[in-house]
Amino acid sequence: MKHVSIIGGTGSIGTQTLDVISANPDRFQLVSFAFGKNVQVALPWLNRLRPDLVAVLDETVKSELEAVLDYTPTILVGEAGLIAVATAEAADIVITAVVGAVGLRPTLAAIEAGKTIGLANKETLVTAGHLVMKKAREKGVMILPVDSEHAAIFQCLNGERRQDVRQIILTASGGSFRDQTREELANVTVEQALDHPNWSMGAKITIDSATMMNKGFEVIEAHWLFDVTYDEIDVVIHRESIIHSMVEFNDGAVMAQLGMPDMREPIQYALTYPSRLEIQGGERLNLKQIGRLNFAEASFERYPLLRLAFEAGRAGGSMPSVLNAANEQAVDRFLKGEISFLEIEASVEAALQAHENVEDPSLEQILTADRWARAFVASLSLAN
Ligand SMILES: NC(=O)c1ccc[n+]([C@@H]2O[C@H](COP(=O)([O-])OP(=O)(O)OC[C@H]3O[C@@H](n4cnc5c(N)ncnc54)[C@H](OP(=O)(O)O)[C@@H]3O)[C@@H](O)[C@H]2O)c1
Repeated sequence: MKHVSIIGGTGSIGTQTLDVISANPDRFQLVSFAFGKNVQVALPWLNRLRPDLVAVLDETVKSELEAVLDYTPTILVGEAGLIAVATAEAADIVITAVVGAVGLRPTLAAIEAGKTIGLANKETLVTAGHLVMKKAREKGVMILPVDSEHAAIFQCLNGERRQDVRQIILTASGGSFRDQTREELANVTVEQALDHPNWSMGAKITIDSATMMNKGFEVIEAHWLFDVTYDEIDVVIHRESIIHSMVEFNDGAVMAQLGMPDMREPIQYALTYPSRLEIQGGERLNLKQIGRLNFAEASFERYPLLRLAFEAGRAGGSMPSVLNAANEQAVDRFLKGEISFLEIEASVEAALQAHENVEDPSLEQILTADRWARAFVASLSLAN
């Protein structure tokens, strides 16, 4: 029996993790659970799986939840609640499924407490990869990637030696606007941006996929998880999302991991690693039906946020934190209708240009850079 804690349990990754847990009650037990404010989604899962510890955004959500729950777990609020859930004594593994840099402190606390991490919350590694990986090494904690690309690379690297790796090739679907030219992006709407061709995901990552910021974040995530330089990472557009990513070795061999676009697969693998378990439901890969797979260049001209991610990653220091926080703020503004789609990248680029890099930042310096970048982007008045 593996005891599981989830932070961000009501989102796309969170609910798919709950699917995997509830499909295998003899193997997994949910011991603690954190979410923001979506009581409606949380309620049936909580009543069914009955974790002892629950955390929510604030006192209002707590009262709302208490009024409708069938049982009486301990309910905590705010960041302290997230941290308590992530460090729950009974938990063996924490699935980090919150969106954004809000995951940073709970993830660090979980590592400090010796928990295995199933990492979906990539913003944590983008904003503070050096601190997270250092702490994981110190504590001997495994960080198992849940992101499908990184789960693929992790599997391709199974049993291989680091010195034999030539490069990591991340595949990218191209997002909602992969068939549009840059000129056509000027007037796209929020609804169009939220319509991802292959994956059903939370709003923020869907927008990040359309701008290619998501792939840029994954480049930085791969740098930290697999100890590769930015020169050893390539990105290729693969519109079918069947090859989840690849590793090329020095002898010319390329290993790829394939599967249907179904996040339950990497989530389940993180939960069962190093063994595997029959997946319940879902479609199996049938290459004869798919027929052909396509590949194309992910150009920096078409996707400037991919270029900026490589640049911020190479610059290091507090630049990736600014990249992440500026993007979070800009995506929030886009979703609220305050700025246009192309102004997301303009905002992020402006923040990176205005920021004075801090080398080897401490947690406090990262949080300061994060706050600065959010305020900077919030106050930008763009011409549209
Ligand atoms: N979705 C995917 O297929 C996918 C694939 C790979 C990686 N990822 C990564 O996984 C993470 C989650 O993505 P998602 O698509 O599942 O996001 P999502 O659907 O938007 O869910 C986000 C979750 O975080 C919770 N949350 C947000 N702010 C919070 C706060 N301040 N305190 C407590 N909980 C908070 C939300 O709670 P409420 O909704 O209840 O407020 C929700 O449970 C992201 O980092 C994303 O990049 C996602």
